[in-house]
Amino acid sequence: MASTTSPGRFITLEGGEGAGKSTLARGLADALGAQGAEIVLTREPGGAPGADTIRALLVSGDASRWSATEEALLFAAARLNHLTHTIRPALARGGWVICDRYYDSTRAYQVAAGGLAPETLDTLNTLIHAPAPDLTLVLDLDPESGIGRSRGALKGEDRFEKKDAAFHQRVRAEFLAIAKREPERCVVISSAQPAAAVLAQALNAIEARL
Ligand code: TMP
Repeated sequence: MASTTSPGRFITLEGGEGAGKSTLARGLADALGAQGAEIVLTREPGGAPGADTIRALLVSGDASRWSATEEALLFAAARLNHLTHTIRPALARGGWVICDRYYDSTRAYQVAAGGLAPETLDTLNTLIHAPAPDLTLVLDLDPESGIGRSRGALKGEDRFEKKDAAFHQRVRAEFLAIAKREPERCVVISSAQPAAAVLAQALNAIEARL
């Protein structure tokens, strides 16, 4: 996969709503950019013009607007567009891609919480040749605090936030389960601490592993 064949580095940030991924992403971009690397800060769904158009369909409107299967297809289309136009070219140039959410979010939201069959996601990942990240930082936070901190509603992007508490508990549990299953790729960091401490732990993990 890309992690071993491309000169760049692919770091993904995962976690539930309001876990502080965007703040961490900006902090990492500043710190790693200061060391001279080309940093590409991006996010899913989105990160390329076509994928941004699909994002608007996914994150706004009624919570029941799409089924988990429909969502997974839309996320996969957005992901392929993002990989083609943003992620793969950046990795090929030797850049460091910091991506706010990636396929672990599909496993947490659509599979574990939404009921999609895990094999369906595996098939979609194979179809779009989704490279494995070199490192995944999982920000862990109790969903109740996270939803309170999230600003999705202000941007009209609260379609997933509107799902019930049990849904968000399943999302949290799955991110932790993914990290347990793949300890060589994933590091869990508690978000129930100041942003500066989260950033310091993330930079330590990057230094130790990449
Ligand atoms: P964001 O709020 O972190 O920008 O993410 C947008 C929403 O999309 C968030 O509620 C999580 C959801 N999501 C999925 O359900 N599956 C996915 O594969 C991705 C990338 C995001």
